[in-house]
Amino acid sequence: MSYLFVANWKMYLHISDVVKYCTTNNNELKKLNNEHSLVLCTSIITLPTTIELLNNREIKIGAQDCSPFKNGAYTGQVSAKDIAQAGCTYCIIGHSERRILCGETNETIAQKAKQLIENNIIPIICIGEISPHCILTETYIILENQLSLIFTILQNELAEQRSLIIAYEPVWAIGAKIIPDHTYLNRIFDWLKKILAQKIPHSNISLLYGGGVTSKTISQLKKITNLNGFLIGKASTDFQQFKSIIQS
Ligand code: PGA
Repeated sequence: MSYLFVANWKMYLHISDVVKYCTTNNNELKKLNNEHSLVLCTSIITLPTTIELLNNREIKIGAQDCSPFKNGAYTGQVSAKDIAQAGCTYCIIGHSERRILCGETNETIAQKAKQLIENNIIPIICIGEISPHCILTETYIILENQLSLIFTILQNELAEQRSLIIAYEPVWAIGAKIIPDHTYLNRIFDWLKKILAQKIPHSNISLLYGGGVTSKTISQLKKITNLNGFLIGKASTDFQQFKSIIQS
């Protein structure tokens, strides 16, 4: 089965690390991308370098965030239009690290989604519960709440068919060595598939799992039904680990 593997390099790799990663592994990345689809989400400053060094339109490049605004007096922010003009085709938004550390709200995240869609960038929208003790019904409520403004945007403002990616990442599994149990995950993805088909039937949606994806957890995670791929943080910054996850 062919999967979408999205690498979220966060702030782990500096410019010199990115140069080394791309130059050393360029050919192997291309080969892996023949069987699966790879998206590398780099820091804003390393985006142009990554695009130039990979020199390959097949491996897609993504940003890790964008401004909720179109343009204007927003010091330090990067617009969706600039991300698109730099050559990105994907962008992560709503990551729990930004929700928690930067206080991002569902409203801001929905505005970012709108900017990205208007600039033909596929948003990778992260959702997930914080506590490891949630029962399924509690998790459904949290996820639906995180998605509801996104539904409104896609229902009201942009009627034509749009591509988007939803990455379910239980926050407690991010950077951890444990993953949720199989039944819990299957139920979440079944539920997501149903609610998305109900609320935004005209959208073309892929579902990812993220949080603690490693070469040890990947075989268990591949058993989840209704899953199109994975969002991988730390393990994607080491090419050999990333490769072994993809080839597992
Ligand atoms: P992790 O991070 O793979 O290091 O757990 C995933 C993420 O935060 O997107």
